[in-house]
Amino acid sequence: MRIAIGCDHAGYRLKGVLIDRLHALGHSVTDFGTDGTASVDYPDHAHLVTGAIIAGEADLGVLICGTGIGMSMAANKRPGIRAAAVSETFSARATREHNDANVICIGERVVGPGVAVDILDAFLGASFEGGRHQRRIDKIESLG
Ligand code: RB5
Repeated sequence: MRIAIGCDHAGYRLKGVLIDRLHALGHSVTDFGTDGTASVDYPDHAHLVTGAIIAGEADLGVLICGTGIGMSMAANKRPGIRAAAVSETFSARATREHNDANVICIGERVVGPGVAVDILDAFLGASFEGGRHQRRIDKIESLG
């Protein structure tokens, strides 16, 4: 798959770990920064990653900040984006299967790199189940 990834300064180290994992799995990765630990604003990188998805240039997105929460809030402002902040594998899988999430948000200050890789694997390994879940997503879209 084509994966867009981005982070702020608090997620920079974990971004490198997850890029390595994505490459090892054979995915095409586009890195939207940030490129170091100097302080930046996470909405800027959420905007870039979600922009790639909206433009059809990426299939899924990965966003990392300190908690994953700010990134998810910013990403979910964008039309067609369903971003989930996740800190364990059950939710990572379920948010693909039930919510058709197209962005996973992870907090580098919340989970260690091993758990983060497992979360990424669970997210990428799951598929949207459709059916009754599509009706609920349609209702989410209608709330906007
Ligand atoms: C940065 O200090 C921190 O606020 C940010 O990475 C994130 O955790 C926000 O949700």
